[in-house]
Amino acid sequence: MAGSNTIDVAGGGEVKYDRNSELKAFDETKLGVKGLVDSGIPKVPRIFIQPPESFLQLIPTAAATAGDDTCFVFPTIDLTGGSIQDPSRRREIVVQVRQASESWGFFQVINHGVPTSVLNQMMDGVHRFYNQDEEDRKKLYTRDVKKVFVYNTNFDLYSSPAAQWRDTFLCNMAPVPPKPEDLPQVCRDIMVEYSDHVMKLGLDVMELMSEALGLTPSHLKDMDCAEGLAILGHYYPACPEPDLTIGAAKHADRDFFTVLLQDHIGGLQVFHKGHWVNVPPNPEALVINIGDLLQLITNDKFRSVEHRVVANRVGPRVSVASFFTTGYMPTEKVYEPIKELLSEEEPAKYRATSVKDYSTFYKQKGLDGTSALLHFRI
Ligand code: OGA
Ligand code: NI
Repeated sequence: MAGSNTIDVAGGGEVKYDRNSELKAFDETKLGVKGLVDSGIPKVPRIFIQPPESFLQLIPTAAATAGDDTCFVFPTIDLTGGSIQDPSRRREIVVQVRQASESWGFFQVINHGVPTSVLNQMMDGVHRFYNQDEEDRKKLYTRDVKKVFVYNTNFDLYSSPAAQWRDTFLCNMAPVPPKPEDLPQVCRDIMVEYSDHVMKLGLDVMELMSEALGLTPSHLKDMDCAEGLAILGHYYPACPEPDLTIGAAKHADRDFFTVLLQDHIGGLQVFHKGHWVNVPPNPEALVINIGDLLQLITNDKFRSVEHRVVANRVGPRVSVASFFTTGYMPTEKVYEPIKELLSEEEPAKYRATSVKDYSTFYKQKGLDGTSALLHFRI
């Protein structure tokens, strides 16, 4: 519960504490979870302890056995050089995109054309950001979302049921590119280069998705679904008590879709057919997942699926999430289910909403385990 000041320690009675003051004291260190770990804390502070119902969910289900059952094989789509230009290969890829977007809401692309050197340098850039001098890092810590570059621990620190074992920086790269001086020098150049590649890949993927929906290839682009791009650099420090907390609580993304680069450590899990399934870590692949806004405009044809990141004794784990949305810029553009996808049998399931209203609602709610989409359902 947001702002709750009690905690039930593993069912052993209630211990009262001033949660808000502890959140604030932590926030004011401006050094994030990394700061706690660097200081050598042996235990997870209680603000990070997940509510008891989440403990149950941490027990791996299909995650351990996913490889044995074909219905739990995480979808991989091979975009090997030029294959989307070849008409018959493109038709096959469109079918794969449709199947994955309808059933998993997730897939990973390999041979996607973004050079491995750019992926590696982007990861190095995130490491450099978090490894810079504490004083330099502190200066960038903020909850002022009007800033172009925002670094803090948990956008929902004060509204979620429990804090999550993760630090994040976020930067809007499009439609308005940042001025070089708005970006930290340690990762400035690579952020610009990486986001150019992600934008190009995103536009290709958006064409494939449009076709997979039976629309003209430019349909989603013409709706400006690729207008906004935000890059998030996540840092999940090693955790001394990984069973008590979580790296990212279960959530669905608030954007049209996300392109995720993760390192070799693993921890990302997707909720599929009642099981938490590991997304295999592959630092050369890019994971693509459907966000709430795409589920809304496709009237549930494509699914924005819940996922989470478990905490790990091993770390840090680094990932870079690229969000296709203007949600971080206040635009009034209104989205509603695409007319071409509706019929008498398939009436609109969602009311129209501006990206701004959607984002405001999502942010206020925080990652509390429920879907923000429900609020917009007719
Ligand atoms: C996200 C997200 C997963 C990861 O940024 O929304 O789910 O592996 N990230 O960091
Ligand atoms: Ni996510």
